[in-house]
Amino acid sequence: MNEPQIPEIVEQADLQALNSLAVAAQAEFFCSVTTTEQLIQALNFANERQLPVTALGGGSNLVLAGDISGLVIYLDLMGISHQQLTPEQVHVSFAAGENWHSAVEYCLQQGWYGLENLSLIPGNVGAAPIQNIGAYGVELSDVFVRLEAIDTRSGLAVTMDSQACQFGYRDSIFKRSDRNHYLITEVTLALSTVAEVNIEYPALASALEGTDPTPASVSDAVCRIRRSKLPDPAVTPNVGSFFKNPIVDKQHLEQLTKDYSELPFYNQQAGDVKIPAAWLIDQCGYLGARVGDVGVHEKHALVLVNFGGSGAEILQLAAEIQAAVKARFDIALEIEPRIYGSPR
Ligand code: EPU
Repeated sequence: MNEPQIPEIVEQADLQALNSLAVAAQAEFFCSVTTTEQLIQALNFANERQLPVTALGGGSNLVLAGDISGLVIYLDLMGISHQQLTPEQVHVSFAAGENWHSAVEYCLQQGWYGLENLSLIPGNVGAAPIQNIGAYGVELSDVFVRLEAIDTRSGLAVTMDSQACQFGYRDSIFKRSDRNHYLITEVTLALSTVAEVNIEYPALASALEGTDPTPASVSDAVCRIRRSKLPDPAVTPNVGSFFKNPIVDKQHLEQLTKDYSELPFYNQQAGDVKIPAAWLIDQCGYLGARVGDVGVHEKHALVLVNFGGSGAEILQLAAEIQAAVKARFDIALEIEPRIYGSPR
């Protein structure tokens, strides 16, 4: 008999090992689920007690501002399946708990291409659609087909396509109106069996200059570039980029380049430009800065690092950086990770 096991619910669970900023915080109730049936049982437990529900994946894109009331559910669903649609196209479905980088490596080994540029991004597959992960010229939305989720309001399974997810730059419906309404259980991506590579991103192009790039060599180059400037969360706790790169209009750009002729920017639609937030923060003197037990990574100004501080201290440093960038450049930096919990 394969009866679904009832998930063990723990009270006052420590979340420090489950968030890549290694912030100490507690969940009022916590459970880990390995099947959709267990997930529904966990939701029933929360509904019966009218507890709010928070989903936790790899914990690599969230800031715990304090303890979390209600039930925290760790989505430990595993499994990968695929469907060959044509000789060139395969749809690959990943359960939410699969580690993102392992999934990228697995696809490369199978000869399913399209994820190479997204190598080494921390976290689990289920979290990837939330911020529409992106790096080195590719975003998840470029290969996204659909996701399966449980609607926490009805307890029912839903399927959402790309349009329903409303993907944008580091954005989706899951960061906006539907913030806590869906628990993502599975993600399906369209990959190619044809070994085409995308090396338009300048840092990648120069890393591979003079070579005949393959998906495997692109993945290796992305890993090398990331390791050279981004701290390994297992060694130096962080959540990657702490702010989004801001987008400003042409007028604002003209104003800025009067004072800062070396300002880097990338053209967007409708004459807007994207400015690297790292450059703005760096200009304000924060590269490598340390304030108490939190700081800014010494090799990348967009990455806040934790040396044993609290989520509140991280957010305080973020607010200080936002104020400095606003005062100097009149640009409001937006925090990229999701914030959970309230200070004690
Ligand atoms: N720069 C500085 N000072 C620094 C670091 C960078 O001035 O300390 C300037 C340089 O001019 C550099 C530019 O910022 O050319 C851009 O830096 P980088 O190439 O590292 O990219 P980014 O814009 O900071 C974005 C993503 C990363 C992604 C890379 C590569 C966002 C918020 N971040 O970073 O994503 O890996 O591009 O595509 O869009 C993440 O989301 O966690 C993440 C790491």
